[in-house]
Amino acid sequence: MKGKLLVGSAIAATAAAQQTLYGQCGGIGWTGATNCVAGAACTSYNAYYYQCIPGATTAVTTTKATTTPVTTTKTTTKVTTTPVTTTKTTTKVTTTPVTTTKTTTTKTTTPVTTTKTTTGVSGSCPTTFVSTSGKEFRLAGQKFYYAGSNAYFIPMYGPNDTGDMDAALDAFKSSGLKVLRTWGFADFSGPQQSYVTVFQNWTTVPPVIQTTQEWGLPRLDYVVAGAEARGIKLIIPFVNNWADYGGIDLYVNKVVGSGGTHDNFYTNTQIKTIYKNYIAAVVARYKNSPAIMAWELANEIRCAGTNLGASSSCNAAVLTSWASEMSAYIKSLDPCHLVSVGDEGFFNIAGNSDYVYNGGAGVDNEALTALSTIDFGTFHMYPNSWGETYDWGNKWITDHAAIADKHNKPMVLEEYGVPRSSGLRDTYMAQYHATVLNSSIAGDMFWQFGTTVPNWGQSYDDGYSIFPADADWNTLVPGWAAQMAAKN
Ligand SMILES: *[C@@H]1O[C@H](CO)[C@@H](O)[C@H](O)[C@H]1NC(C)=O
Ligand SMILES: *[C@@H]1O[C@H](CO)[C@@H](O)[C@H](O)[C@H]1NC(C)=O
Ligand SMILES: *[C@@H]1O[C@H](CO)[C@@H](O)[C@H](O)[C@H]1NC(C)=O
Repeated sequence: MKGKLLVGSAIAATAAAQQTLYGQCGGIGWTGATNCVAGAACTSYNAYYYQCIPGATTAVTTTKATTTPVTTTKTTTKVTTTPVTTTKTTTKVTTTPVTTTKTTTTKTTTPVTTTKTTTGVSGSCPTTFVSTSGKEFRLAGQKFYYAGSNAYFIPMYGPNDTGDMDAALDAFKSSGLKVLRTWGFADFSGPQQSYVTVFQNWTTVPPVIQTTQEWGLPRLDYVVAGAEARGIKLIIPFVNNWADYGGIDLYVNKVVGSGGTHDNFYTNTQIKTIYKNYIAAVVARYKNSPAIMAWELANEIRCAGTNLGASSSCNAAVLTSWASEMSAYIKSLDPCHLVSVGDEGFFNIAGNSDYVYNGGAGVDNEALTALSTIDFGTFHMYPNSWGETYDWGNKWITDHAAIADKHNKPMVLEEYGVPRSSGLRDTYMAQYHATVLNSSIAGDMFWQFGTTVPNWGQSYDDGYSIFPADADWNTLVPGWAAQMAAKN
């Protein structure tokens, strides 16, 4: 999911207006209102997203962009021709001083405890780790069909983040959801900004991995330890196809520079080394943690990205070859955790006129799923953004269940959603759930989990978020989680 900018582009027209409570009010690429309505303060959530949250209104100062000056306003459109319509605008980033009275509590990094219950057999893996058996997952020797969700923002909370991370994980746990997908990347170039999570500092090349800095990987440590304490399993992608949190375009801009194309990421030797080094640093931290369900190569790989397009030589074979190399690399470091791709599930059927079936994005879900070092398939689903009907979503699910059947591997519907504003969310989510239940789909993870935490307040609402206050919460979240759990 490209996420937040879907809403951002719609609001951008009202640049002079005051932003509403919980609306976006700044961040890289933001061109809309930067002042909040009375009673709300514009607060930096991360470099890409500032939100109006309840509190004293604060003055917003404007400073120059600290990353790439060219940013984008993204509108999601039918993907038949171009998957993402990119309107380039040069904007300044407004940086809020974040003049809250809150101070950050001292971080004590909770070490991730290791509960290795390896059996006597040399090379066997702990049963507390999720494993696969044919098309199913296994956990502690039992079937593990699950409902989970995405909440990319948990490592990105602002001031006093640990209380917020705990609150979000508590809410996730009590909803009955079992697997959480959250971002394991935060690539950034420029000076450290207040409360901005940065895992790789790209001011220099190669980037500096923030292994000990307060706003670096210790924050991911806290999420992993918190998930472990609650029995939540995590799917952690290592890079974003999109420019949010840096992403593949940042790797290419920094290493290749002018003339680089998005797909240099998949072939450039220096980039591949940098990416592998980052993987090695993250995997080493949590190699023994049962909280990790799977390492994921990327969020939504494609030949093209947000700012950079694809070269003419990019195709599905390039991405499959890259996925093969990188997944084998992860397995060489950590043979006991599962590895997935995180692709949107596009097929590569020659001659098909539909973009999501004809390999146009450079993705071949079947070939990726079939790789020996990939443990399960992944696919995403946004019918309205992809120029498909909501009914079509049921076919997209059964098309992927057929890949699970054919290759005898689990398949996870890893992101999907129907916008709340469509008025059709209840209807179609119920259909999709029925289709998932009556298929070999092993896991289901809607986009995305909405939550309200003490300091940050309400999580970002991109129109797809499902919050406890929503009328359909009980059906779509705890009710659905119980239905999936009943398959076990
Ligand atoms: C941090 O959050 C916790 C609860 O989440 C709260 O008790 C505490 O007062 C907060 N500290 C600050 C400095 O805001
Ligand atoms: C990145 O490193 C530079 C020094 O090379 C430093 O000035 C900057 O503050 C760092 N940024 C972050 C986000 O740590
Ligand atoms: C369940 O799936 C099977 C095919 O796997 C299909 O024949 C059947 O009609 C489906 N049942 C429902 C209720 O959708």
